[in-house]
Amino acid sequence: MTAFEFRNGELHAEELPLSQIAARFSTPTYVYSRAALTTAFRNFDAGFNGTDHLVCYSVKANSNLAILNLFARLGAGFDIVSGGELARVIAAGGDPGKIVFSGLGKTAAEMQQALQAGIFCFNVESAPELERLNRVAGEMGKRAPVSLRVNPDVDAKTHPYISTGLKNNKFGVACEDAFVLYQRAAALSHIDVCGIDCHIGSQLTELSPFLDALDRVLALVDQVEAAGITIHHLDIGGGIGIRYADETPPEFTDYAAAIRAKLGNRKFKLVMEPGRALVGNAGLLLTTVEYLKHGETRNFAIVDAAMNDLMRPALYDAFHEICAVKNGGANEQIYEVVGPVCESGDFLGHDRPLAIQPGDLLAIFSAGAYGMSMSSNYNTRPRAAEVMVDGGNAHEIRARETVPQLYSGEKILTD
Ligand code: LLP
Repeated sequence: MTAFEFRNGELHAEELPLSQIAARFSTPTYVYSRAALTTAFRNFDAGFNGTDHLVCYSVKANSNLAILNLFARLGAGFDIVSGGELARVIAAGGDPGKIVFSGLGKTAAEMQQALQAGIFCFNVESAPELERLNRVAGEMGKRAPVSLRVNPDVDAKTHPYISTGLKNNKFGVACEDAFVLYQRAAALSHIDVCGIDCHIGSQLTELSPFLDALDRVLALVDQVEAAGITIHHLDIGGGIGIRYADETPPEFTDYAAAIRAKLGNRKFKLVMEPGRALVGNAGLLLTTVEYLKHGETRNFAIVDAAMNDLMRPALYDAFHEICAVKNGGANEQIYEVVGPVCESGDFLGHDRPLAIQPGDLLAIFSAGAYGMSMSSNYNTRPRAAEVMVDGGNAHEIRARETVPQLYSGEKILTD
């Protein structure tokens, strides 16, 4: 399914020309395709047909309520990392009984909130977190369902900032320590051991790290079960990459088949936490060229989106394809595509061949994941609007912020 296609020389989102969306909602605006989101979820889910499983969409990739609601209606569970994300999932109509709570710094208040909501499982990342959870659950007269997130020490072969499964990362419990911690968990009166969890990183483009991690996790499962502790579900985390440029990430079906083959006849429920793979290529960032500046050594296309809207290029030197929404009309030149923020790191793309003039629209692709959710108000820039296209209709799923909203919580001293 191609959500964004050129028709008659103009890029469309499903049935709608992007210029219409810009005229109605202004720019910068995130544009998502409902059909692309739906197709991505269904395809991912279908890979595991015939296996007891739960796809827990990783909310951090894009936490807009409309997107959460769409996935909830398709049967998704959710992977959350904060009380804020829990509140969002519930506000969007998600089922708390299908939530896994990841993250290494859960506060007592967040634990209470999640226990109250009745989530499916806490993915516990350390011994002190386990003790705290036991205490908090005890105070509430409840038992907390727990998986330990184990760190299998495999190289995910991705950007170091988004690699999480190596020994020197802050995440999870080392495999060597996990057995003892499982025994401790089983002995605690307000903890129910229910599963095991691992997540080794994001934007993985090869299957082998997933499978290496699984080998180590399954060896641990054998050890834990031999000690009389039953593992009911296996959470394999997220991490499947998408194509930004010329990457060839595994197809969902190959990923699912390889995992199922590794599991053989084991009977536990499978949980997965995909984020980027479900939303990344279902969204783009629409922006307007404000100025063209022809320097001595470089040409700059200065646009109205910036690093505060899409942080990935500045933070990871990430590549996002950029193209003009309408073909023709100007000579092609090589541009640095930059925003107006006062930092040299505020770029959206280097050395891009574009045939553009001021006032033209640009589309920045693959921006559905970790785009809006990582945006900020740096330089007192209101965050972008978000629009979901459904066939020939565009729905505003988040209004553009206004400047007074940005400082509404601030107070001037009175003396
Ligand atoms: N589960 C856990 C425990 C995670 O930490 C993450 C992502 C996911 C699932 C979802 O991973 P995905 O399927 O999206 O790869 N901001 C970075 C990505 C950070 C990922 C953090 N954890 C980026 O823009 O590339």
